Amino acid sequence: MLRDKFGRSIRDLRISVTDRCNFRCTYCMPKEEYQNFDFLPKNQILTYEEISVVVRTLIPMGLKKIRITGGEPLLRKDLAKLIKMIREQDDSIDIAITTNGVLLSKYAHELAQAGLSRVTVSLDSFSDDLFKKMSDSNYSVNEVLDGIEAAIECNLPVKINTVVKKGENDHEITDLVEYFGPLGIPVRFIEFMDVGTKNEWRIDEVLTGSEMRNLMSKKFGKLESRKDSHPGQVSNDWTFENGWQVGFIESISNPFCSDCNRARLSADGKIYTCLFANTGHDIISLLRMGATDAQLSQAITSIWSQRDDRYSELRDAENPIEKVEMSYIGG
Ligand code: GTP
Ligand code: 5AD
Ligand code: SF4
Ligand code: SF4
Repeated sequence: MLRDKFGRSIRDLRISVTDRCNFRCTYCMPKEEYQNFDFLPKNQILTYEEISVVVRTLIPMGLKKIRITGGEPLLRKDLAKLIKMIREQDDSIDIAITTNGVLLSKYAHELAQAGLSRVTVSLDSFSDDLFKKMSDSNYSVNEVLDGIEAAIECNLPVKINTVVKKGENDHEITDLVEYFGPLGIPVRFIEFMDVGTKNEWRIDEVLTGSEMRNLMSKKFGKLESRKDSHPGQVSNDWTFENGWQVGFIESISNPFCSDCNRARLSADGKIYTCLFANTGHDIISLLRMGATDAQLSQAITSIWSQRDDRYSELRDAENPIEKVEMSYIGG
């Protein structure tokens, strides 16, 4: 089994299929920074066939999960085609997608038919005003809720991701729990992270997982930690006594690098071994030079075996480093 310098395997591949998005979330793609931005031209973006080759190479190395991300992955044409190509390679691999949800009602059915396993929808607020402000878009909460409903109708399990910014949407945490709890949909609250260099991250805007749990248990009672996670899972999952489920992604207050088994493939065909990396390893050139599966496998083995990333454990909030943007690398 392939291991990096700290003995971590590749279990999870996060594939960014586009660097574009129809939102401009302030913590991810602030409008001022992305107004005249040079997005990737089409010929520099991996084709579905090329992505499939990378997946085919990784499956024998122990890959168990694929997460399709972006930007907003549903902006990429015929995404169901990619899901189908991956599903045809492995009928048990977990294929998930992270989406902002506004195009989900349009595509849920074809994605489910193609073999998607489940969906994670980002939603930071129930109030249209705050939702519009945080996503810096003109979409409405109802469009996201319609997408969630469409996914449920197609029997796709759904999770919600909520980025929490202190003083911005922290007063809505309990509303989200109260809405999704009874529906059996886990909400995962994400500490505002210092990804990229454009989102003006400040530590005093981070509400920690433990502060969130205190807030919630005041309203809904005791929370119990669940230990049924798979190795390297990012979310710490908890359950209320009434069965409602919540999770916390505590990259700032409680880093989880020690068993991080995630590789990332950018839309332009580079492998990144950490969300906070500043450079990727070129794979697209190899693919386009006609490398064999064995050569590709050798290249990935070499990249992974030299990996020693543990950014969140080493984070120095006072001295930020250069790192790639999340909309480009996928979450
Ligand atoms: P499940 O498999 O459903 O548990 O989801 P996931 O672990 O793939 O999580 P998801 O894609 O929904 O990501 C949730 C949040 O965790 C996002 O904000 C990601 O950016 C963040 N995240 C995911 N992987 C990492 C990681 O390796 N490091 C850090 N710091 N954050 C991560
Ligand atoms: N901090 C925390 N989470 C973020 N996301 C995007 N930017 C940030 C950030 N700065 C989240 C999105 C999405 C997931 C893929 O990453 O909201 O749910
Ligand atoms: Fe788009 Fe997701 Fe980034 Fe928001 S967080 S701008 S929806 S990629
Ligand atoms: Fe993995 Fe890097 Fe996130 Fe740590 S900071 S969990 S090494 S992606």
